[in-house]
Amino acid sequence: MTPSIPFVDLKAQYAAIRAEIEPAIQEVLESAYFVGGPVLERFEREFAQFCGAAFAVGVANGTDAISIALRAAGVGPGDEVLVPANSFFASAEAVSNIGAQPVFVDADPRTFLMDPVSAAAAITPRTRAILPVHLYGRALDMRPFVELAAAHGLTIVEDCAQAHGAVFAGETVGSSGRLTCYSFYPGKNLGAYGDGGAITTSDPELKQRLLELRDHGSPRKYEHARVGYNSRLDALQAAVLSVKLRHLPEWNAARQRHAATYAEALAGLPILPPEIPPAGEHVFHLFVVRSSARDRLQKFLADRGIATAIHYPTPLHLTEAYQRLGAPGRGACPVAETLAGEILSLPMYAELTEEQLRYVTEAIREFVRAQQIGRQTAAEATAALP
Ligand SMILES: Cc1ncc(COP(=O)(O)O)c(C=O)c1O
Repeated sequence: MTPSIPFVDLKAQYAAIRAEIEPAIQEVLESAYFVGGPVLERFEREFAQFCGAAFAVGVANGTDAISIALRAAGVGPGDEVLVPANSFFASAEAVSNIGAQPVFVDADPRTFLMDPVSAAAAITPRTRAILPVHLYGRALDMRPFVELAAAHGLTIVEDCAQAHGAVFAGETVGSSGRLTCYSFYPGKNLGAYGDGGAITTSDPELKQRLLELRDHGSPRKYEHARVGYNSRLDALQAAVLSVKLRHLPEWNAARQRHAATYAEALAGLPILPPEIPPAGEHVFHLFVVRSSARDRLQKFLADRGIATAIHYPTPLHLTEAYQRLGAPGRGACPVAETLAGEILSLPMYAELTEEQLRYVTEAIREFVRAQQIGRQTAAEATAALP
């Protein structure tokens, strides 16, 4: 029988931690403390400590986390925010939802993440902030963005929705003291059993502003200093996240092992694995390969019971929503546009077995043999990008 390999296997994860999850949920049900309260505060402390930040503020989802962080940093209507064209839609949407304008920045051909050179070129007198995204689980090198921000007086808000626990040069993402935004959408490396998000910071004043904004702009009950949001992380999700946080280091380590296994098995094939940066830098939320025969490869794998996905099929500036809002057309972000037609995310989750990994890589080898795809090295493929 053809094995079916899902893209993410949350059932396997639940089976492994069920004995810890159920009493944690029970505790919340019996306390009847569903919004705010000790379970949320405990998770916020644990998550801040995990990230190496002074504070974490739980919110309803990762999209709100970005909007609220930008508002707390004073970004608002009329301001421009630099956003990578290669990201999930929410990175830009969160900017638009506060009345600011996303300005799209091309991808780095080596990492597929936001390119600092393109970011510098996109700065105008209206630019107020940069939103670097640690996409796919890979920690961005923040140094060029920090330099740009200092040179132009810009705020940095980081989108870390896909990279909980990634470490760049010894620093965990989120430990910089800058506003850093997380999503706990179920399939994320740290995922709730519903929606959830958080913002970390080390600035007590910003923390206070975040607390108010997430709760109707309210510093004290029935006082409203500004119009905010109803965007809280509920106690049931916090209880689940506290349990899962204990497992996150081992899950991230498993993802890194699987990535190394994939990369080794694909070496020399024209299906190009991502760069494997130094340990800790990439927590492989996604394992994204590149192929000029991407659509045929995806179908070939689907026919063999292997689920894959595309992150993301349309660069943000070319989505219908941003075309309606007057974003530039094709050609504005040529690297992101080319990648969108070639990238494919392979199954990736901590519980993947050796046998499943072998099945996927064998299927890819078979595809290459059957389709007689020409050999192209990673360096050639990178050089071929616009
Ligand atoms: C890069 C990125 N930014 C933002 C978000 C938004 O998070 P959420 O779905 O929790 O609103 C996500 C996740 O979906 C994401 O992957």
